[in-house]
Amino acid sequence: MIRQEIRRGAALAATSVLAGGLVLLAPLSGIAPRAQNAPAPAATPAPAAPTPAAVPEASLPFTAVPFYADWASSPHARRGAEAFNHWNAAGVIPVECAKCHSTPGFQDFLGADGSPGGAVDRPAPIGTVITCVACHNNKTVELTTVVFPSGQVAINQGADAICMTCHQGVESVNSVNKAVAALADDTVEPKLEFINVHYRAAGAMLLGTQAKAGYEYPGKTYAGRFQHQAPYTRCTACHETHTVAVKFKDCAGCHRQVSDKASLRKIRVSAIDYDGTANADEGLAEQVDHQRAALLKAIGDYAKTVSGKPIVYDLEEFPYFFVDLNGNGIADKDEAKFPNRYKSWTPRLLKAAYNYQFVTKDPGAFAHNPLYALQLLDDSIADLGTKIPAGLGAAKRP
Ligand code: HEC
Ligand code: HEC
Ligand code: HEC
Ligand code: HEC
Ligand code: HEC
Repeated sequence: MIRQEIRRGAALAATSVLAGGLVLLAPLSGIAPRAQNAPAPAATPAPAAPTPAAVPEASLPFTAVPFYADWASSPHARRGAEAFNHWNAAGVIPVECAKCHSTPGFQDFLGADGSPGGAVDRPAPIGTVITCVACHNNKTVELTTVVFPSGQVAINQGADAICMTCHQGVESVNSVNKAVAALADDTVEPKLEFINVHYRAAGAMLLGTQAKAGYEYPGKTYAGRFQHQAPYTRCTACHETHTVAVKFKDCAGCHRQVSDKASLRKIRVSAIDYDGTANADEGLAEQVDHQRAALLKAIGDYAKTVSGKPIVYDLEEFPYFFVDLNGNGIADKDEAKFPNRYKSWTPRLLKAAYNYQFVTKDPGAFAHNPLYALQLLDDSIADLGTKIPAGLGAAKRP
């Protein structure tokens, strides 16, 4: 109950953040003591609200808004980010994008704006970030269920459901299967385009086959939710809730390899040789990287020999896979351009490239669900290996 009170308080405070601070000064100062469990503000009459014009900037009580500074330093408040400015030229954020890229769009999706929940009903205005009232409103208080693009539903996710509603990607095994249905595995199909699962789909990675965001090969079994030692199973156990930074000091308590953010990638508990290098000092993230590299090489070899057109990957440039015009194996500036996007997809190549992108665009995959990530990479390598000399070698599929 206290949690709900606090969340409502946060929502009010956030209205002020949204409104620029000044106008709602009085409700703001009323909320701060409640958040610290002080007597309800009604018991002590609130001082008369100063007229906005009379309040100097410096006295704005943002320090009294719980977690304001944390949130303000987070990527969710990064006004200049591409994720919040991509639609500026169009003037509105389309229905398909608004849920995760704006506060009004997320509220629309939840139904917190009075519209039906479960879908975005209208394009959202540009110019917002993800503010307090995106995550704190009358709908998120109750939100514990998440529907993934595959149609899979995850119940009882607690407050993580908020995070997972956005960090879930936009594609799944189903959309890939639909695109390649009835096509021959190794025939170049000019109508196929790359399918981009999207970015930082941490929630879908964490749940593995319960969310089915990866391309799962028929006949293989896949890991479900990553079973880490409690309580580090939740988004906000490993990430600080409002800065969303990884709490690496907590990790260091059990993982001797960790001393700073960069060394998270050195975490290793399992003795299993996932990448076949027989190097016991490698971090789990490094093992995932090696399997990613092996898959990218297999994708390159397959494209050259089976599709008949060399391919290159560019981490930053949409849609990521391009024709390697000069065959140097590098995405040169003049190659990494939309008109030169790769168009010689066979179903087999598309599935492997889809999985490569899913794991690559979740830099935390090694901590969110290393087993699922490695399974997807390994199965993609093995599948390409039915046509070209590629395989797992000494690497062990988890
Ligand atoms: C299910 C939620 C979701 C939907 C729907 C969604 N996105 Fe995103 N998008 C994200 C997340 C999460 C990120 C954050 C990536 C990061 O942190 O770099 C992102 C990042 C981006 C970025 C920034 C990429 C970069 O490299 O900085 C662009 C551009 C983008 N999305 C475009 C779109 C477009 C266009 C649509 C609609 C067609 C869309 N997104 C729909 C969740 C979503
Ligand atoms: C990206 C989503 C997100 C945003 C944005 C966000 N919060 Fe939160 N906040 C959460 C989650 C998740 C929790 C934890 C809820 C839980 O575990 O029950 C939380 C908890 C809280 C709590 C309760 C803390 C406690 O100890 O129980 C307060 C107060 C709060 N947020 C205020 C704010 C304010 C003020 C802002 C804006 C400045 C804000 N939040 C922005 C997601 C968010
Ligand atoms: C309304 C959609 C939405 C919700 C809810 C949301 N996020 Fe995000 N998140 C985004 C977008 C969009 C970005 C990219 C912002 C940017 O590029 O600055 C992002 C960025 C991030 C990043 C940084 C990624 C990077 O590229 O550096 C982390 C970490 C993160 N979110 C974690 C969380 C956690 C944890 C929660 C739940 C407490 C959460 N997010 C809730 C949409 C959301
Ligand atoms: C076991 C701990 C753990 C859990 C649980 C966890 N994360 Fe992460 N997350 C990490 C680590 C470690 C990284 C990698 C950070 C790095 O390399 O800087 C990461 C990275 C990320 C990133 C990319 C950040 C970036 O800098 O690009 C996002 C977004 C993210 N996590 C969101 C989430 C969400 C949403 C959840 C819940 C569905 C979640 N995480 C659960 C540990 C965790
Ligand atoms: C209370 C102790 C404890 C804390 C704190 C802890 N872990 Fe772990 N972690 C474990 C144990 C035990 C394992 C191995 C067994 C398992 O997977 O549950 C493990 C396994 C892992 C693995 C898989 C390693 C491998 O080689 O298979 C990763 C990645 C990981 N933890 C990341 C994190 C991150 C990131 C944090 C901090 C946010 C963290 N852990 C905090 C105890 C902890």
